[in-house]
Amino acid sequence: MSRDLSHFIDLESLPLRSPGSDQYQALVAAARQALASDGCYVLPGAIRDEALREMQAEARSIENFAHYTRNKVNVYFSEEDTSLPENHPRRFMMERSNGFVSGDHFPEDSSIRDLYQSDELKAFIADCLGESHIYHYADPIASLTMNVNKPGDRFSWHYDTNEFTVTLLIQDCEQGGIFQYVPNIRNKDDECYEDVQKLLLGDHSRVKEIKLREGDLQIFKGRYALHRATTAEGSTTRNLVVFTYTEKDNVIGASYRSMELYGKTLDVHSNARVRADALED
Ligand SMILES: [Fe+2]
Repeated sequence: MSRDLSHFIDLESLPLRSPGSDQYQALVAAARQALASDGCYVLPGAIRDEALREMQAEARSIENFAHYTRNKVNVYFSEEDTSLPENHPRRFMMERSNGFVSGDHFPEDSSIRDLYQSDELKAFIADCLGESHIYHYADPIASLTMNVNKPGDRFSWHYDTNEFTVTLLIQDCEQGGIFQYVPNIRNKDDECYEDVQKLLLGDHSRVKEIKLREGDLQIFKGRYALHRATTAEGSTTRNLVVFTYTEKDNVIGASYRSMELYGKTLDVHSNARVRADALED
C-alpha cells in the first residue's frame, strides 16, 4: 500500500488537495511569480518531521549505491571540441565529483517513491508551472534519483535535460552545499555562449544563491539556467532527491548521459525516443 500525500505533507497548513481554496491559490500564485521571475521556487519545510526522518533513513540505506563520477566536464556534458577557440564554453572543462543513485535502487516499499508518484503532488506542481498536464518521466533510471554529495564532493555548472526539476533536500551536509544558479542564461533558440563564457571566466554578477533546508521542496527550471552546488563540507552526506516530470509523455533521456550519470543504460535509451527540444544536452 502506498503512502498517502497526508503522510508527507501537513494538508492543514499546505492544502495541496484543495485547489479551490484561497490558501492553495495563494501558494500557486507565489510559485508562478517566483518561477516567472527567476525560474526557482522553494516551498520551505514541506515535509512533516516524521516522514522526513523515514526518508532520511531510506536515503542513507541506498546512498552507497551511488554511481560516482569524478571527472572533468563542460556545462553540456559533451566531448571537448578542440576545433573551437580556447575559452569557448564547450572547451571549458571543470572538476566534478558526486554520485547519483538511480531509480532502480530505491527499495520496493520506498517512501520517497510514494511521494514522487503522488498524482496530487504532480497536479500541484503542474499548477505552479502553469501547465495543464505534466507527466512522470518515462525513463526508469532517471525519473526518481538521488544526488549524493559526500564531504569534498561538488557538482559543477550544468544544465538539466528536462525543462524543470523538482528536488527535495532529504539530508544536508554540515557546511557548503549551497545551490547557485543563473536564471535564463540560455533559451530554446540560443546557447548564449558569450554569457556562459563570462560566468565560467569568473563573472558571478548574475549568480543567485539558496541554502536549502532539509524538507524543502524546490521547483527549478534547470534547462535554461546554469546551476551547481558548492562543495559539501563537514561529516554528513548531502542527499537530495530529484523528481523528474516532463511536459510531453514518454520522454526518455540520452544514452550517453544515462551512462555518464548513472553508469548504465537500458534498451529504452537506444530505441527511438521522444525528446523535449533540440538543444545540446
Ligand atoms: Fe541539475
